[in-house]
Amino acid sequence: MFSRFAKPTGSLLSRAFSTTLSNNANVAVCGASGGIGQPLSLLLKLSPFVTRLSLYDIAHTPGVAADLSHISTKASVKGYLGPDELHDCLKGAEVVLIPAGVPRKPGMTRDDLFNTNASIVRDIVNAIADVCPKAMIAIITNPVNSTVPIAAEVLKKKGVYDPKRLFGVTTLDTVRSSTFIAEAKGLSVKSVNLPVIGGHSGVTIVPLISQCTPQVSFPQDVRDKLTVRIQNAGTEVVEAKAGAGSATLSMAYAAAQFAESLIEAMSGAVGKVECAYVESTETEAKYFATPVMLGKNGVESNLGIGKLLDYEKKLLDAAMPELLANIKKGEDFVNK
Ligand code: APR
Repeated sequence: MFSRFAKPTGSLLSRAFSTTLSNNANVAVCGASGGIGQPLSLLLKLSPFVTRLSLYDIAHTPGVAADLSHISTKASVKGYLGPDELHDCLKGAEVVLIPAGVPRKPGMTRDDLFNTNASIVRDIVNAIADVCPKAMIAIITNPVNSTVPIAAEVLKKKGVYDPKRLFGVTTLDTVRSSTFIAEAKGLSVKSVNLPVIGGHSGVTIVPLISQCTPQVSFPQDVRDKLTVRIQNAGTEVVEAKAGAGSATLSMAYAAAQFAESLIEAMSGAVGKVECAYVESTETEAKYFATPVMLGKNGVESNLGIGKLLDYEKKLLDAAMPELLANIKKGEDFVNK
């Protein structure tokens, strides 16, 4: 039976050399030389679903591409360096993943990245609109709550916006939640799934522990601590890295999981569900993360927020003002 929020089966590495699964996706990574971009590109090079991997960055892509191209898996790899080569990189791309931008340093919120990252995302999405307007676009660059609305506004201006094909990647929130809950309950992490809804920063991250599979219960104080840890998990990494950046390896893992689910769904696999930040009518927020069923054309259906506990309703209420402000900030950036 289909569960509302099912985790994809099989690990990336275990499937790297699979001969039974096949797909022919052309995937581009913009920001491929960075802390997220490099391990993400490696995981995609290991994926049996990727045939062509096009790597774009403003630095180091010749080296990253040469290095990855020696790995004995099927995807061909090519690097593209600097804005003059962005259009070539995007030609024929069916999925474009965007981790380009600057990461947080200790003391910074994701919103503090806005000034630099907003224009980076705007320019890359402009090029996507010109070169591969039908591509699925998966945005990793923070603040995701604002960069997804930026992308949508750019695509609208170009007349090529399809809300089913634009995603903010929030998979890391579900990955972290599963990990922390499995640890707390002594469960196998592979068996733990729960939706994380809302946005992708601080209080806008709303884990739905009441909808966890298997069902778990916690005393209120433990539930509070777990919720706060999930909301601040990115900051936990930023502080541990002490100025050397934010989550890169876990983010790359999560983005690769999302990309594989999407590519499989695009090629006809059924039942591929991931949480993602998409255009939504679930709440008053125009963009909102929920579990979505993926299909050949991107979002096939939005599986919604389900039934919330009063505790979770309060978390959602607390998320709304910040989420709405983040969305407006993104839209205003393009329109004003
Ligand atoms: N076009 C393409 N790539 C760019 C551009 C641009 N205009 N500007 C910067 N980059 C590249 C950098 O050259 C670098 O290789 O983006 C990469 C970013 O890498 P890091 O600085 O290591 O940052 P990373 O940890 O990967 O995070 C990137 O993802 O999760 C978010 O919050 C994170 O917004 C940040 C982004």
